Amino acid sequence: MERREFIKNACVSCGVISLMSTFPLTLLQSCTSLPMLRTSSVDKNIVINKSKLAPEKNLFVLRNDDLQYDVLLVKNKDNTYYALYMQCTHQDNAVTANDKGLNCSLHGSTFDLEGKVTNGPAIRELKKYMVTENADSLTINII
Ligand code: FES
Repeated sequence: MERREFIKNACVSCGVISLMSTFPLTLLQSCTSLPMLRTSSVDKNIVINKSKLAPEKNLFVLRNDDLQYDVLLVKNKDNTYYALYMQCTHQDNAVTANDKGLNCSLHGSTFDLEGKVTNGPAIRELKKYMVTENADSLTINII
C-alpha cells in the first residue's frame, strides 16, 4: 500500500516525489514532458480513446488504479503502438520515463524505449504489452 501511494505522487518523468498526499498531481506533471492519462480497465484490458492522445506525441504514461505501476504507451513511426510496464525488473521499483528511455532511481538500471536493459543491475527487459487498435480506441491486454 505504501508503494502505491508513493507512485501516485511521483513525477512520471523526473521522479520528483511529493511528500504530501494532497499535493496536486497536476503540479507534479509540470516537471515532465510526457503526457499522463488516467485510465480504467475492463476485463483486464485498458481501453484508451484515441482522441485523448495528442497526435504530435509518441509517448504517454498511463495511470490505472488497478495496476501498481504505470504503463508507458509508445507510438511507433508507422503509427502502431506497444506498451511497457513501468516496474523495474531488478527489485520492482517504479521506473520513470523520458523521450530517451526509462530509468530506475533505486540502483541505476536503465532501459531503452523497447524495454531492453541498457544498464544493470537489471538483467531482464521490461514487461511489454501488445496494443490492439481499432478506429476509435486502443486496447492493452494487461494480463
Ligand atoms: S530496483 Fe531498479 S535497479 Fe534495482
